[in-house]
Amino acid sequence: MARTTIRGIQTMKKAGSPIPMVTAYDYTAARLVEAAGIPMILVGDSIGQTTLGYENTIPVTVDDIVRATAAVVRGSQNALIIADMPFMSYQASVEDAMHSAGRLVKEGGAQAVKLEGGAPVIETIKRLTDAGFAVMGHLGLTPQSVNGMGGYGVQGRSKSDAQRMSDDALAIQGAGAFSVVLELIPADLAQTITGRLEIPTIGIGAGLECDGQVQVFHDILGLSLDFTPRHAKKYAQVGQAIADALGQYADDVKNRRFPTEAQMVRVRKADKDAGKTTEMRVSGGG
Ligand code: KIV
Repeated sequence: MARTTIRGIQTMKKAGSPIPMVTAYDYTAARLVEAAGIPMILVGDSIGQTTLGYENTIPVTVDDIVRATAAVVRGSQNALIIADMPFMSYQASVEDAMHSAGRLVKEGGAQAVKLEGGAPVIETIKRLTDAGFAVMGHLGLTPQSVNGMGGYGVQGRSKSDAQRMSDDALAIQGAGAFSVVLELIPADLAQTITGRLEIPTIGIGAGLECDGQVQVFHDILGLSLDFTPRHAKKYAQVGQAIADALGQYADDVKNRRFPTEAQMVRVRKADKDAGKTTEMRVSGGG
């Protein structure tokens, strides 16, 4: 099967078929997302907090996203892969944006790139799409601007902010983006924007009326033991399950219950007598 295309995603909007999207940052996660039949994977700069242990997305580099994207591409066959453009990989100039997007697509293997912001990035989106990149916009809470915004609050509450966001969404569409993420905005504003746009809106903390939803892999699987944002529903307690399993493993090792006969080989007496040893195939060894 060929990968989902941006046209395929746009057709889903036209057909009124809600679009699921989730983040992934490595090969194993991408295989699991594929197994669930999710048509779009975002290699988000949320890799900063989920995987690299940063406080926010600001330190994430193009190299980080390129390497993660390449792993996600190797782990998937059908999903459309969108790579996030990290902070300061596109804000300073259109040339920076071209260069960064080029690396994400050429080296990472992404089919599309995503960048944050409204009016200040419209020209950049236009130049990228003119150059043949598939671009996803991102409005509302734009985490790369956490310092300028003064935190991670809900955006677009006032009439003027809502109007500006709605105008920005239309401008992003006009610049050629194939879709736009709406993060942490009131559900009624997301519904209004969704109704105005021909391109799909993908919501996160933006209500049910968006054309699709995106969530962070770690949030919906309960991989982070200490933090779940309000907009995320935990569909599993994978973090706790892993911690429990690792605890049992450590306990077995400490008490000499692992490995058992099933995980070991012994040299048969006949082989021993003939001076032969038995080799065991080891998977995942370092
Ligand atoms: O980096 C990310 O995970 C994102 C989503 C929250 C949309 O940008």
